[in-house]
Amino acid sequence: MNPLRSLILAAAGNETIRRVVATAPVSRDVVRRFVAGESTAKAVAVATRLVADGLTVTLDYLGEDTTDATLAERTVQAYLELLAALHDEGLAERAEVSVKLSAVGQALDESMALDNASRICAAADTHGTTVTLDMEDHTTTDSTLRVLAELRATWPWVGAVLQSYLRRTLDDCTRLATSGSRVRLCKGAYAEPPEVAFDSAHEVDLSYVRCANALLSGDGFPMFATHDPRLIRIIGERAAFYGRKPGSFEFQMLYGIRSDEQRRLAQLGHTMRVYVPYGGEWYGYLMRRLAERPANTAFFLRALATRG
Ligand code: FDA
Repeated sequence: MNPLRSLILAAAGNETIRRVVATAPVSRDVVRRFVAGESTAKAVAVATRLVADGLTVTLDYLGEDTTDATLAERTVQAYLELLAALHDEGLAERAEVSVKLSAVGQALDESMALDNASRICAAADTHGTTVTLDMEDHTTTDSTLRVLAELRATWPWVGAVLQSYLRRTLDDCTRLATSGSRVRLCKGAYAEPPEVAFDSAHEVDLSYVRCANALLSGDGFPMFATHDPRLIRIIGERAAFYGRKPGSFEFQMLYGIRSDEQRRLAQLGHTMRVYVPYGGEWYGYLMRRLAERPANTAFFLRALATRG
């Protein structure tokens, strides 16, 4: 892994650095580029604007690694409030939610995470939308896929996320490429050991293409989450090869990244879904975005040094 990326991801776990970054005034400016705001109202306002632009949305209430049942409950309540608001604003058909199981108690107890995720799925069902389970570091993959299988027994539309940097993912893609199965394929955003993950960007990209082929040739609904222009072109070519029409798969990108490309793909007739995070716990999310791109980090450090 790129040393700068490892350093930033390590800093993400350091409490002192977290305090400095989280309280520096400039952080707010940088955060605004990637995060919709702290409240449900702000999240819904951003979703409304994106939907008006012809995009679809998945909203993520920020929070992860919860080791406290009260905080997990607060996360569930935030999702219930959000889902009701999406319905009330007439957005449910074009805006779904993404949920991190670690934010609803996975580290405490898998069955607590399952119960909490079930409440969110039941509300999504009532309000006419869907849920996708984000994927976190590799120690949680099996647990997350177990919870996914349980949820899908009641709500077959629950989306999975698979990460092409993991060596296991081609097998997972093949297994999950079944009728109606919504699978988001991303490269993966956590610091992982070489025993489980490909180390070089090139290997991760090759794996992404192998996994994309497995998903496109199967019967499921693939969701390609990447900003990578080369991969987007290859996916277009492979989708045509497998006879996939635009409505039978979708592209996804993060809020604040390559917004022009998001609109371009939507104008070509593709479903383009924007992942919109919101809420007060933006630190871990911001650090992963900075780790992905040295230019973002340089911008941030310069601003911290001059204004923080
Ligand atoms: P890559 O990082 O190689 O970037 C390709 C190009 O995209 C860059 O050259 C640049 O032009 C642009 N770009 C990428 N990141 C940028 C940034 N931060 N700022 C500015 N430009 C940038 N991960 C995970 O582990 N679990 C998950 O559940 C999810 N969920 C998820 C949902 C959605 C909708 C997306 C788009 C991504 C995720 N991810 C994720 C994150 C994912 O694993 C990955 O870290 C990022 O998408 C970056 O990888 P790319 O495929 O964009 O390629």
